[in-house]
Amino acid sequence: MRKYFLILFTILLFAVTGFVPTPQQNSSEETIAERVDSVLALMTLEEKIGQLNQLSFGIGWGPTVKVSVPDEYKQQIREGKIGSFLNAIGAEFTYELQKVAVQESRLKIPLIFGLDVIHGFKTTFPVPLGEAATWQPEIVEMSAHYQAIESASAGIHWTFSPMVDIARDPRWGRIMEGAGEDPYLGSLMAAAHVRGYQGDLSDLNIIACVKHYAGYGGAEGGRDYNTVDMSERTFRDIYLPPYKAGVEAGAHTLMASFNELGGIPASGSKYLLNDILREEWGFKGFVVSDWNSIGEMINHGYASDLKHAGEISLNAGLDMDMESRSYITHLKQLVEEDKVDEDVIDESVRRILRIKFMLGLFDDPFRYCQKEREEKNIMTSDIKIASLEVAKRSFVLLKNDKNILPLKKDYKKIAVIGPLANNSIDPIGGWGGLGDSADVTTVLEGFKNYVDKKTQVLYSEGCKIDDPSTKGFKDAVNIAKKSDVIILCVGESRDMSGEACSRSSLDLPGVQEDLAKELLKTGKPIIVVLMNGRPMSINWLNDNANAILETWFAGTMTGDAIAKVLFGDYNPSGKLPVTFPRTVGQVPIYYNHKNTGRPGDLKNHYTSKYLDLPLTPLYPFGFGLSYTTFEYNDFKLSTNKITNEDSIIVSVKVKNTGNYDGEEVVQLYVQDLVGSVTRPVKELKGFKKIMLKRGEEKTMDFTIHEKDLRFTAADMKFKSEPGLFKVFVGTNSVDLKESQFELVE
Ligand code: BGC
Repeated sequence: MRKYFLILFTILLFAVTGFVPTPQQNSSEETIAERVDSVLALMTLEEKIGQLNQLSFGIGWGPTVKVSVPDEYKQQIREGKIGSFLNAIGAEFTYELQKVAVQESRLKIPLIFGLDVIHGFKTTFPVPLGEAATWQPEIVEMSAHYQAIESASAGIHWTFSPMVDIARDPRWGRIMEGAGEDPYLGSLMAAAHVRGYQGDLSDLNIIACVKHYAGYGGAEGGRDYNTVDMSERTFRDIYLPPYKAGVEAGAHTLMASFNELGGIPASGSKYLLNDILREEWGFKGFVVSDWNSIGEMINHGYASDLKHAGEISLNAGLDMDMESRSYITHLKQLVEEDKVDEDVIDESVRRILRIKFMLGLFDDPFRYCQKEREEKNIMTSDIKIASLEVAKRSFVLLKNDKNILPLKKDYKKIAVIGPLANNSIDPIGGWGGLGDSADVTTVLEGFKNYVDKKTQVLYSEGCKIDDPSTKGFKDAVNIAKKSDVIILCVGESRDMSGEACSRSSLDLPGVQEDLAKELLKTGKPIIVVLMNGRPMSINWLNDNANAILETWFAGTMTGDAIAKVLFGDYNPSGKLPVTFPRTVGQVPIYYNHKNTGRPGDLKNHYTSKYLDLPLTPLYPFGFGLSYTTFEYNDFKLSTNKITNEDSIIVSVKVKNTGNYDGEEVVQLYVQDLVGSVTRPVKELKGFKKIMLKRGEEKTMDFTIHEKDLRFTAADMKFKSEPGLFKVFVGTNSVDLKESQFELVE
């Protein structure tokens, strides 16, 4: 706990930490195993199956919520037919449920309560895509930790997070829930979340659930739940690493995904659930299905009925059934028919009981449901400060023409315009937990809180997010005319990204761009504040607005964070974790693509390109401006040849050449020039976020080892191959300095 205060303290001092997390305590594995076996020995087959069954309650929390457990559930708990609930929230409510389990059921096995704490419980933090844009794993870890404190105080033991699905298609609404397109950045973010949620479980943290295993982000056409089909090499090198990183960071659970992968639904895939996860990676925790993902194998055409689906999933290694009720209904009979071995059930029960022991629930089943702690720990000032700090660091400055930002403090009138300007619902973002709009500061409020009496803040909605009416334009134009500057808040609504929220267009919805065009005619400078859960094709804004700040959905502290950044109290330091296409027709477009036999060349007809588009995206991966400027010099390699045993130190001097103190994310990329299989044009292999005072220069060192150069080669072995490599260092994935080295045998 103390370490997170320290992080917060350190970032408030405006420094970048050299923070190394302490390893998680994992005290008495053997004792736990013995205790698990002693419980298992007492269990009937029915009770064992009950442990594998997870059911849901509707969301509802707070002192006003009536605490009553429906009789139907009470009876099932008493009979040992439920091992876990999701969406049961609140110290009192979970207490009531737990009481039935540990006082009225035969074996008194405690329940485990899960919830989607994706970017906050009651205090919301930026959506995960925004958190990834900080490029600061230690900040993301801190964020996860604060989310754990809040939710654990309200009875929650387990979050269905982090979502670590790599997404190369921004049409996919769930891109908002993950860390974007890159396996390296995604792996660091996955591990940071896991460490932050779980910490030391004796400290009342929550267990993480790495999801959705696996490949869910590869849905064809970016349409949610759609088929996923890719080569095993792409799967292993691009999509799999963040799940592995989550497991290596100690995640106690994983969630099997909805999708099929190469013809086998993930929820029935022995290859994923056993061969890779348990055999290759040595995962010891348990796997929960996604919501009815076992039952959905019938629609996939992989199971004939719910019973068959249960047989497939359990035998594949899927331990807990979320809401399909296949296990609870059919497993007993499947055992009697010798289609499922009771030993396999025992193994799943062991895995689940182990986690219940690790959470301390057998020793004190009520440790997470203390009303006093709930009252004390929800929406504390510490959590709000943490949320504000993460929000400021998640913003990405996409344009700043003639250094119009930071805003001058002597403006007399500022027009805050747009459907997201005084909006307290959408900034919460999708999967907002119990985030309440009453707690959110809007941009308008943030500005009013910030400015002094000499500045007047005017407001007009202008239009709705997704509505054809232009009736509000007139009022917006009127106040714009009276003002010195326009803060135009546009983007998506919170329900345009997230689950089942794929879009076929990446343009601003409704008439928001038309509103911007009308405002441009006033001749007043336009600062765009963008709120959205995915990359957007904002070409017109890029060409015409004076500045653009990408703020994602920043959560509870949205308005304060935006005002502080626009006025320069915090110099933007975020970088894009995902490529922004010029148009949806460019999708998929991602930085670590292959070169092809005919690399795109606009002057050469028979090359890989579109006739009607530049080769480049609107904003590349890793892009993000600052109010200051940075210069890269003296790019050097310690050697130009390495063997498998040694390493290269790549160094570069980075100087703050502008007028403000600021942070820069120094990025390192590598290209393997010739391989036994074709290799990406570049791959992120390292980055460091540094703080540089005005005029300050620092030398940044990166070390490249042979192991950083490994990939799934032609023989399907994960290894490096001797040969030439390019190495790049710079401020984003395009503006890079370049050198070369050789790996020799
Ligand atoms: C989602 C999961 C989520 C689960 C429980 C599913 O529909 O795909 O991400 O954890 O519901 O709410």
